[in-house]
Amino acid sequence: MCGIIGYVGERQAVPVLLYGLQRLEYRGYDSAGIAVITPASNRLIVEKQVGKIKDLQEKLWNKKIEGHIGLGHSRWATHGAPTIENAHPHTSKSEIISIVHNGIIENYIELKKQLEEKGYKFKSQTDSEVIAHLFEDLYEENLLKTAFKVAGKLEGAYAVGIISTKEPDTIVAIKKGSPLVIGLGKNENFIASDIPAVLEYTKDFIVLEDGEIAKITKDKVEVYDLKGNKVKKEILHVNWDVSVAEKAGFKHFMEKEIHEQPRVVSDTISGFTSSKESGLFEELKNASRIYIIACGTSFHAGLVGKFWIEKFAKIPVEVDYASEYRYRDKIIDDKTFVIGISQSGETADTRFALLDAKKEGAKTLGIVNVVGSSLSREADYTLYTYCGPEIGVAATKTFTAQLVVLLLTALEVGLKKKVLPQDKYEDIYQHLLAIPSKIEKILLKNKTIKEISYKYMNAKDFLFLGRNINYPIALEGSLKLKEISYIHAEGYPAGEMKHGPIALIDENMPVVAVAPKDNFYEKMISNIQEVKARKGKVISVATENDEQIKDLSNNVIYIPKTINELYPLLSVIPLQLLSYHIAALLGKDVDQPRNLAKTVTVE
Ligand code: M6R
Repeated sequence: MCGIIGYVGERQAVPVLLYGLQRLEYRGYDSAGIAVITPASNRLIVEKQVGKIKDLQEKLWNKKIEGHIGLGHSRWATHGAPTIENAHPHTSKSEIISIVHNGIIENYIELKKQLEEKGYKFKSQTDSEVIAHLFEDLYEENLLKTAFKVAGKLEGAYAVGIISTKEPDTIVAIKKGSPLVIGLGKNENFIASDIPAVLEYTKDFIVLEDGEIAKITKDKVEVYDLKGNKVKKEILHVNWDVSVAEKAGFKHFMEKEIHEQPRVVSDTISGFTSSKESGLFEELKNASRIYIIACGTSFHAGLVGKFWIEKFAKIPVEVDYASEYRYRDKIIDDKTFVIGISQSGETADTRFALLDAKKEGAKTLGIVNVVGSSLSREADYTLYTYCGPEIGVAATKTFTAQLVVLLLTALEVGLKKKVLPQDKYEDIYQHLLAIPSKIEKILLKNKTIKEISYKYMNAKDFLFLGRNINYPIALEGSLKLKEISYIHAEGYPAGEMKHGPIALIDENMPVVAVAPKDNFYEKMISNIQEVKARKGKVISVATENDEQIKDLSNNVIYIPKTINELYPLLSVIPLQLLSYHIAALLGKDVDQPRNLAKTVTVE
């Protein structure tokens, strides 16, 4: 996830671009850059810097770059490490065209090969650079005309801004899959990945839809569909102020990040598909044993992953807290694989445990969100989650994305090992593709979940129960609640409740039962009965149309139906919202809870 901005108008472009990039920094901050066309020499001036926007600002401090048209980009690396070469804007061979891109060009390897055969030299490892060269290669008459040809070649998701010294008064923008808005000003216009980036200058916007191409000059905006027909666009007038807008209208980053999950799941599926590490799956196929090591929420993702890997790839898996695994007597041979899961890729416990195992001869894989992070460099292989920066300390969107990567890994290895039939693989994959819209449906219940939260916000303790693949979801629900609301909560396998925790249950104890209609449903119902018999308050997470559970529960939060194996991707969403609302209603510092840090780099 990157941020893009473009300006054409009567102001100096550089300050506008830098201001916009600052507002877009949440989308990525491993490098940034700008490209401006100087009127004096009609040349493209491109400046880039590794690091945050402030580092780019410092670099530009003493440079006088004049020009009234330009592009800016803040990068969250997907293809290629965070380096100057990989930073945007990218420029075409003869330095007449500059582009910024947000998204993933899935067929870039093929396009790159074709361009290289024509003599184009690539300076970066990015997928994006192909767009700059394609524009030069296919250039005909003007940028707009060329954009239709380029769009016809690109596969994947993209929002692209293009400028050229051949038309120093025009920005062309193309959108498919990644967000892009056009800000409308007086004698000036803007493009941006989101509204807040230019809210300082205008409150009137055109939101581009997939498959639209726009030509933007300082006093005119034209939008076309891919067939070249002019599209009449409505103007959206917004009345937010900048601080609200940064959170896209949500009160906290955590709430915003919970709501980003449909997009994150889709992006992670396409990211996984476009960057399959075939060497990795070949090696995993031959693994005799897998250890998954992680901390906190990432550990819970690992517990779900164990079910999938054992079921679909038939490899025994042990999941351990990284801080425990490191000091265990590990049984490692050359067929042992250690998978470290970490959003940040910087968690010391996970990194060091993985490095120790690597030293002892294990093959290692990191499942990481932050590109270029330590774990991604230290592991033999890396698979990414495509979430963009997660700002709230409580992990939400990165958890669902980790699940997606673990599931797809299990399926891929199962298929390669021939222990998972192709038709079963395809069936699960199709159900996975439907998950984002099912999450959307759950998010529509936000108000109901807030009402339920209000009812239970003063409880002193909570119990979360689940069975089998939904047991780790009970653990995750309890971690979410305690870390942001400071209410004591425990997650338990529902069948274990009778062996101790049942003693805690009385009329003051809310018990959250994760009970979708799967193979363990009847057993969960019996456990819920046990809670009811002791006057506990039952909040069930159940499959829609389940009337039976209604009679046994004080409150039910329904989730859409899916196949048994995929329920964790849905059942966790109401638990995230429940914790979020309880903490927000209690007035806690949701995004930065006490005593915690987003990244824990100490043992
Ligand atoms: O960056 P990591 O995934 O390695 O972080 C691991 C834990 O510190 C993290 O999941 C933590 O438990 C979160 N605050 C949970 O919401």
